[in-house]
This record gives sequence, C-alpha cells and structure tokens, in this order.
Amino acid sequence: MTDNPSPAASAHPSTGRLGDPGTGVLVTGGGSGIGRATALALADVGRPVAVWDIDSAGADETVAACRARGVVAHAASVDVADSAAIADAVAAAVDALGSLGGFVHAAGVSGAATVDDIDDAIWDATLNVNLRAAAIISRHLLPPFRSAGPGSAVVLISSIEGLFGSTMLTAYCASKGGVLGVMRSLAQRFAVEGFRVNAVCPGAVVTPMLEPAFALPGFREQLEERTPLQRVATADEIARPIRFLLSSEASFITGAHLTVDGGLTAVTAI
Ligand SMILES: NC(=O)c1ccc[n+]([C@@H]2O[C@H](COP(=O)([O-])OP(=O)(O)OC[C@H]3O[C@@H](n4cnc5c(N)ncnc54)[C@H](O)[C@@H]3O)[C@@H](O)[C@H]2O)c1
Repeated sequence: MTDNPSPAASAHPSTGRLGDPGTGVLVTGGGSGIGRATALALADVGRPVAVWDIDSAGADETVAACRARGVVAHAASVDVADSAAIADAVAAAVDALGSLGGFVHAAGVSGAATVDDIDDAIWDATLNVNLRAAAIISRHLLPPFRSAGPGSAVVLISSIEGLFGSTMLTAYCASKGGVLGVMRSLAQRFAVEGFRVNAVCPGAVVTPMLEPAFALPGFREQLEERTPLQRVATADEIARPIRFLLSSEASFITGAHLTVDGGLTAVTAI
C-alpha cells in the first residue's frame, strides 16, 4: 500500500497504477449501477472504498463484494440530500478507511417530468441529490483530502443531458448542467491545494435508472441505431474512465468533462 503521489510524482507519473492504492475513495450511490461498478473497479486495484447509499441493502451488497476483492470497505446508509448528515458520515468513513483521498458523486435520481408537470417537489428532490450534494460533500472532504495528500481527486457524474436538452427531463437537465458548473468552480478552488476535480458525462447505461425508458417499445433499439458504436454502455464502461480520472494517470487533467457515450453526441443532438 502506498500513499497518494507527492507533488513531484504527480507532475511526472511513472507508476502507471490506475488506482494509486492507499487512500480511500467515497462513492455515493454506490449501492447500484454506475456507483457500484465504480466501487468494484476501485477495489480491483486495491483502493479502500466507502459506499454511501439511501438503499442500505444495496450499499451492504457492494461492500461485501469489495471486501471479497481484499480491500477495506465501509457501507453507510446516507441520504445525500440531508446536508446536516454529511459531516458525521464523512468522519465515519475516514475512521473506517483511515483516509479519504477520492470522491465519486454517483448518487442520482431522474426526476422525469416535462416542464408541463414540473413542481417544487420534483425540482428540489432532483436538484438536491444530483447537484447540491456534490458541492456540500466536496466541501466536507477538504480536510480529509489535506491529510491524504496532493493527489486527491473528485469525479462528479454529469450526463449527456448536461450538454443537451431533453423534453422529458427538465429538472435532470438542470442538475446535470449544474454539475458541470460546480465541477469547474471546484476545480479552480481545489487546485490551490493540489487536488483535481473532473466530471464524466455518460450516455445511456444499462442500470436500474434506465429500466423505465428501456421498457418503452423501441426506445433502446432507436438509441442504439443512432449511436456510432451501435449499443448502450455497461456500468463497467463508465467506472473505468472514472477510475482513470481519480488516478495519477490523469495528473494534469482538472476542470474537464469526459463524454462516455459511444459517440452519440459527436454525431447528433439527443
Ligand atoms: N444510467 C444512465 O444511463 C445514466 C446516464 C448518464 C448519467 N447517469 C448518472 O449516473 C449516476 C448513477 O446512476 P445509475 O444509472 O447508476 O442509477 P442507479 O439508479 O442504478 O443508481 C443510483 C443510486 O443512487 C442512490 N440514491 C438515490 N438517491 C439518493 C440519496 N438521496 N442519497 C443517497 N443515495 C441515493 C440510489 O439508491 C441508487 O443506488 C446518476 O447520477 C445518474 O444521473 C446515468
């Protein structure tokens, strides 16, 4: 086990270790889908993982799978929209893992509604989980990141819906565009301390979140037809780029968003 790279090592990464084992990573929404795949991908390279989810059974299941890969892992039932709960939950994660030098915000809700049906409840529920929590949790991670070292990094999950509009997803589009704004702001603030902040914008990924859309006749087929790679993604295919952005392999990447959509937004508006 090694610590995060020194500033000099960050400037000249030479180890090629995708996970930089040693410092723990907090993954919100780690009880399912992209968050779970990310926790497992990090465990595969030896990084301890703290898994937060409002679904405690899902978080427990992910943590059991991480431990089976030989890493220290910690599950917590946390509603990321409850800002008052974050400080204690961060302290518990640091206690359990010994350090926190990474953060992936994968907790999310779709808040599916056109503007015709939008109301305060849908708006707040979507924005508070997808967007506000990204900033509030990041704020609480500054002290543990300082202890972990200058290689610490954040990856926020946006979406291609953060880059383009979608009739059915008014609040979701707002939240995911907002995530990119928060990411850029945090990147400037965190860089002062040697930390990096980036975002990933997935296209369609096979997870429980997309099950209702995939149940619509022809939805998946039409999407795959319009996608240059002619298919949708697995959660693993999003987790690996996230792991890369957390690692010293990405030591000069900050303030960036990485689109992982099989080419969809390169060739068409959604
Ligand atoms: N699936 C896709 O096609 C897709 C595409 C682009 C972006 N994304 C984004 O990826 C992220 C992960 O989504 P997913 O597809 O894995 O969905 P998912 O539904 O499988 O996982 C989301 C997880 O977040 C958890 N969660 C929801 N509200 C929470 C809260 N208040 N506190 C703590 N945890 C909470 C859920 O319990 C669930 O385990 C989300 O931000 C989503 O918007 C997904």
